[in-house]
Amino acid sequence: MNRRDFIGASCMACAGMTGLTVLLQACTTGKYISDFSQSGTKISVKKTAFTVVKKDKTVEQKYILLKPDSLQFPIALYKVNASGYKAILLQCTHQGCEVSPYETTIVCPCHGAEFNTKGEVTQGPADSNLRTFTTTEDNETIYIQL
Ligand code: FES
Repeated sequence: MNRRDFIGASCMACAGMTGLTVLLQACTTGKYISDFSQSGTKISVKKTAFTVVKKDKTVEQKYILLKPDSLQFPIALYKVNASGYKAILLQCTHQGCEVSPYETTIVCPCHGAEFNTKGEVTQGPADSNLRTFTTTEDNETIYIQL
C-alpha cells in the first residue's frame, strides 16, 4: 500500500466511524411531547412525560422535546440529576440553525458546533452557550419560564 492509498483508506475509516456514531446517537433521540400547557410565559410539563414504555418495560428518558407555538425553535428539557432539569432552546448561537439533541451532547448539523446537555459550548465555531430557561418544579410538574 502506498502513501496515497493509506491516506485514502484512513479517511474512509474516519468517515465510517463518524457515520456510525451519528447513527448510534440517532437511535437514542428523545421524543416530542404535545401534552404540555402554556399560560403566558410559563410552560407546565408533567414529570411522567419522561417515562415511556418499550416492550413492556418502563424507561426513563434523559430528555424530551417540546415546541411551544410562541417560539421559532423547540426546547429540549433534560433531566440533569434526580431533582433537576435544564430547558435549552435548540437554536445554534453561531448562525441560527436548529441543533440536534442527543443523550449526552447537542450537535449543530450546519457547521459542527457541539454543546453539552447544559447548553454550554464544547466545540466551535459557536462561541456562546445555547439559550436556557429557568425551570422550577413541584412533585408532579416541571415549570419552564420563557
Ligand atoms: S449554525 Fe451552528 S455551527 Fe454554524
